Order: sequence, then structure tokens, then C-alpha cells
Amino acid sequence: MGRDDVDFPVAVVLPAAGTGERTGLQTPKQFCTFLSRPLISFTIETFERIPWINCIVVVVARESHDLMLHIVQQFHHTKVKVVKGGTTRHRSIFNGLQVFSESAEGPVIPRPKVVIIHDAVRPFVEEDFLLKITLAAEEQGASGAIRPLVSTVIATTSKGFLDHSLERTKYRASEMPQGFLYDIIYQAYQRCSESDFEFGTECLHLALQYSGTSAKLIEGPPTLWKVTYKRDLAAAESIIKETLSLS
Ligand code: CTP
Ligand code: MG
Repeated sequence: MGRDDVDFPVAVVLPAAGTGERTGLQTPKQFCTFLSRPLISFTIETFERIPWINCIVVVVARESHDLMLHIVQQFHHTKVKVVKGGTTRHRSIFNGLQVFSESAEGPVIPRPKVVIIHDAVRPFVEEDFLLKITLAAEEQGASGAIRPLVSTVIATTSKGFLDHSLERTKYRASEMPQGFLYDIIYQAYQRCSESDFEFGTECLHLALQYSGTSAKLIEGPPTLWKVTYKRDLAAAESIIKETLSLS
């Protein structure tokens, strides 16, 4: 299994329209800078370097649109198309997918066979894992990264008491990247409900429920973690500095 097996068009959608509330910072985490370069630019760079990826759709909030165009120019991101996001992650992803759908004037950008969806705030994803996700998506219809659970998941009552706990070994954490046949995930988003858009957090679930595809789960490396809290930004900074000093 290698690069040469990807003999079909692949595109990426990077949702980056969130506000990063959990960091407690004013600046959305994707625009926090390390060594004068925003976090999102490191993530984009990984995809830019992969020859079998044709197009990277970056979805940002309306107020960050000009900033994103500036970043694209400053760091010479030649494969990037910038799109405006929505009020929830699912809405942002759907907006990103729509750049490939046909408009009255015909297709805006050639439709990929496989689309990878990856959070802009997971900068340490690597090509070999993206390859696994892409080939599994082409074969099965959908694929996604999983990790073992670190803590046991419990359900609580409305009054804050223990209701029940889940058997940890039976469950996995769903991470990113995920891959889909483009037609399958686009159809799933077209069919899903307002409530899915508002409260849903799992793209694989939409593909399963609304397009009836199976989803191949692949255990990913720990480096797939997502920058969520302020301490994650400090960790990301030290990894980036260490990596750059080695290269
Ligand atoms: N995202 C998006 N559009 C939204 C909300 C989130 O594109 N309306 C993106 C984020 O920018 C991020 C990814 O989805 O790249 C994962 O979401 P999350 O980690 O929850 O980021 P935020 O929503 O920005 O953070 P928080 O939940 O702490 O506010
Ligand atoms: Mg969020």
C-alpha cells in the first residue's frame, strides 16, 4: 500500500470556523501563532506537501475570511480554497463540501472521488495515516481514526448523580481524520435534519444513517490529538519548535 495506489482525485476539507471557547483566549486557536506562523498554516502545510492531494478547502468564520486569505498568500499555500463557515461544525463542513457540488454554471471545482475531513487544529497528522484513511474510504465508503479511551465514560442524572457507566474496553474515541466517498458524505449532509446540524458531532454517524455506508475504523497514532485547551497550545508549540530544530 503506497502513494501510487491513490489513482483517483482526493480533496481535503479543513473546518476552521470555530471560536475556540475552551482555550479562554480571544484569538481562535487556529490563528494562534508559533514562530510567527499561525497554527492552521502548519496543518495546511502537511496537506500541501502530499502530491496525491489536489485541493484543500479551508472553512473559516466570516470575520476571519480576510485574515485567512492573507495567511494563504503569506505562506504560499497554492492548493487552498477559502470558504465561509457556519454556526456549527457540521454546517461548516457542509459549506466546505459544497464548493465541489454543481452550481447553475457547472461544477465550481472538479469533484473528488474521496474527501478527507480533518480538523484544522490537529496539526500533527502524517501522510502514511492519511493514506490508510483515504484507501479505506475508497474501498468501504467511509473511514475514520479511532483511539483507545483514556477515561471511563459515565452517564449522569440531571441532578448530578451517577446513572450508569460504560465498559471502557468496548468503546473508542473517535478522532480525525475521516475519509469518505464524496458522493456519500455530500448526500448524507443533504438528507440530515436541522437537529443533526445543530447538535451532531460525528460525520461517520451521518454517513451511516443517511447514506447507509459502512465505516472502516482505523486506530491512529497519539499525534492525532486536537488542540482544545490553552495547555494544548503550549504542547503544540513545543512540538513544533522541536520538529523544526531537528529539520
Ligand atoms: N469548527 C468549525 N465551525 C464551527 C465550529 C467548529 O469549522 N462552527 C471547527 C473548529 O474551528 C475546529 C474543529 O471544528 O477546527 C473542531 O472543533 P473544536 O475543537 O470544538 O473547536 P472550537 O469549536 O473552535 O472550540 P470550542 O468548542 O472550545 O469553542
Ligand atoms: Mg467546538
